[in-house]
Amino acid sequence: MNFLLLFFSATLIFNSMRCEERNFRVYIKEVNITHLDTDLYEKFECKVYQVDNRTYMDSVHIFKRTVDDITVHAALDFWKLNSKQKMKLYDVQFNGCYILENANKNRLFNMYVQNLKKHSNVKFKCPFRANVSYEVKNLTMSEQDFPSFVPLGKFRSLIEYCTNQKLRARVIASGQILPHSTDPLKVLE
Ligand SMILES: *[C@@H]1O[C@H](CO)[C@@H](O)[C@H](O)[C@H]1NC(C)=O
Ligand SMILES: *[C@@H]1O[C@H](CO)[C@@H](O)[C@H](O)[C@H]1NC(C)=O
Ligand SMILES: *[C@@H]1O[C@H](CO)[C@@H](O)[C@H](O)[C@H]1NC(C)=O
Ligand SMILES: *[C@@H]1O[C@H](CO)[C@@H](O)[C@H](O)[C@H]1NC(C)=O
Repeated sequence: MNFLLLFFSATLIFNSMRCEERNFRVYIKEVNITHLDTDLYEKFECKVYQVDNRTYMDSVHIFKRTVDDITVHAALDFWKLNSKQKMKLYDVQFNGCYILENANKNRLFNMYVQNLKKHSNVKFKCPFRANVSYEVKNLTMSEQDFPSFVPLGKFRSLIEYCTNQKLRARVIASGQILPHSTDPLKVLE
């Protein structure tokens, strides 16, 4: 399952308004997967790439055995432009299986799960089957899905997947909120 898009759920905090011009871009610089439990995962890969100033993401998950419980821990840290002070936008834990089944009950999760559905080869739901390649290709998000005002700055997203109370993978992504016209090759740093 792929909940990477959770780093955008900063929208949980700024409640979103649609159909207005956006003057920022979300740029994901890199995604790393660590603490991969190879007892559970045959494969778990994720990569991001930029096309026309937009970030796209591909990922593949193959489990060695059936997975019917997933606890997700997600946290997002943000540093406003020119500020050293870290803001914690969220730090939450939830039942991944439940969210995949019940996304429609929450507008924000629904948006992400619908987006995931559009870009995946098979349905992401529990139980996840062994030896099946769960793939996501060319996943991106629209600035329209964000609130009309998002401060410029850097973010770092942490997502941990646990099953049976054990950490199985940690996904760390870093990126920036850039003004719309910025060339991604000239990022702030
Ligand atoms: C998955 O594949 C492995 C290796 O081919 C095999 O040993 C195992 O029985 C398969 N498991 C399932 C549930 O198909
Ligand atoms: C990815 O999506 C973009 C825009 O939605 C499209 O232009 C591009 O052809 C797609 N690439 C692939 C490999 O599907
Ligand atoms: C990802 O891994 C590389 C190489 O270990 C490291 O330089 C980079 O800082 C990591 N990025 C994140 C977002 O953790
Ligand atoms: C990407 O950003 C650069 C720098 O502002 C701009 O010149 C270019 O037109 C943008 N490309 C697209 C496809 O929007």
